[in-house]
Amino acid sequence: VGQNPPEDDPAMLEVRLRRLPRGVPLPDDFETVEAALPEPAAGQLLCRVVYLSLDPYLRGAISGRHLGHAPLRPGDVVPGRSLAQVVRSRLAGFADGDYVVAETGWREHALSAGQGARKVDPAAAPLSTALGVLGMPGLTAWAGVVELLRPRAGDTFVVSAAAGPVGSTAGQLARIAGCRVVGIAGSAEKCAHATGLFGFDACVDYKHPRWRDHLAAACPDGVDGYFDNVGGDTLQAVLEQLRPGGTVVLCGLVSQYNLDAPTGLSLGPVIARRARLLGLVVYDHEHRFAEFHTRASAWLREGRLRYLEDRATGLPSAPAHFHRLMSGQNVGKSLVVVGPESA
Ligand SMILES: NC(=O)c1ccc[n+]([C@@H]2O[C@H](COP(=O)([O-])OP(=O)(O)OC[C@H]3O[C@@H](n4cnc5c(N)ncnc54)[C@H](OP(=O)(O)O)[C@@H]3O)[C@@H](O)[C@H]2O)c1
Repeated sequence: VGQNPPEDDPAMLEVRLRRLPRGVPLPDDFETVEAALPEPAAGQLLCRVVYLSLDPYLRGAISGRHLGHAPLRPGDVVPGRSLAQVVRSRLAGFADGDYVVAETGWREHALSAGQGARKVDPAAAPLSTALGVLGMPGLTAWAGVVELLRPRAGDTFVVSAAAGPVGSTAGQLARIAGCRVVGIAGSAEKCAHATGLFGFDACVDYKHPRWRDHLAAACPDGVDGYFDNVGGDTLQAVLEQLRPGGTVVLCGLVSQYNLDAPTGLSLGPVIARRARLLGLVVYDHEHRFAEFHTRASAWLREGRLRYLEDRATGLPSAPAHFHRLMSGQNVGKSLVVVGPESA
């Protein structure tokens, strides 16, 4: 921790970019510094961060490859969303003590003008689920499965990054729809969660040299629907096992985010199978949030929807925890516990 704020100013911590990462971001690419606690102006909220969400899209946001973000410059605070508590509201519709999901950046306290801020009912579900299974990753899974893939009972449904928040939720939604669900994940531990906690019918570890054979054995009739979170070789392998008329939702390319040059695909199988490839951007589906949230909260309470979290504690742990996420070591939704739920 470097740099002190002027004396007597109440201080807090924030994480800034030190230099643009090359490849997998390293803890050293960031620095944790003290900053003065901001004062809310009229129309603003002062929020105290409880859980900071770490998500793969931040890799693109840092480098200027995410939905029109300019690249960060050294010294910029790292962007990110949090589950936070309003400490002081000067904005109509929000009260002191309210819990919100808001863009805060990697900070202990942040101002918000309320755009994009969503209130969270602390009685409805554990607060941290607002960043995972009941939040943006959950809505992404809902959009891909319920709105785009629309699987039928008996279909074989495959999903990659199967132990992550999007993949695990997508697979469980497909199971609720009556599909045979096969996960693809990067370790035996992740596969054990997919078939145990999440109830998938099978899960294949793509780091095993014969994983394509294992996938074929797990999908003897071929693949009707594939929810792709990773791109690259995994996408290529599943395209080759699609059934005629199969559908692929392209949700993410996490195998490519740390590469300078993305690997190419060979799309012959798409033609041969008369397949459909559908791109997914979660922000197009925000208007379905209330419906998703009502259904998913009920399934969560009934135990039909489950989740895993990969937690670190204290804001200064965010850079190392982001390294862990971006090198595929996380098991479950990546988040940093920045402060207690009740102050
Ligand atoms: N389109 C949208 O609107 C939208 C919205 C939200 C998320 N997404 C995308 O959905 C995907 C899953 O996101 P998530 O939030 O659920 O996070 P996540 O699954 O926890 O993402 C990290 C996981 O990605 C996998 N991965 C595969 N190849 C990797 C590589 N080369 N390096 C690092 N990790 C690798 C790893 O799991 P394995 O070991 O199992 O491979 C890792 O644990 C991401 O691609 C994300 O960008 C898209």
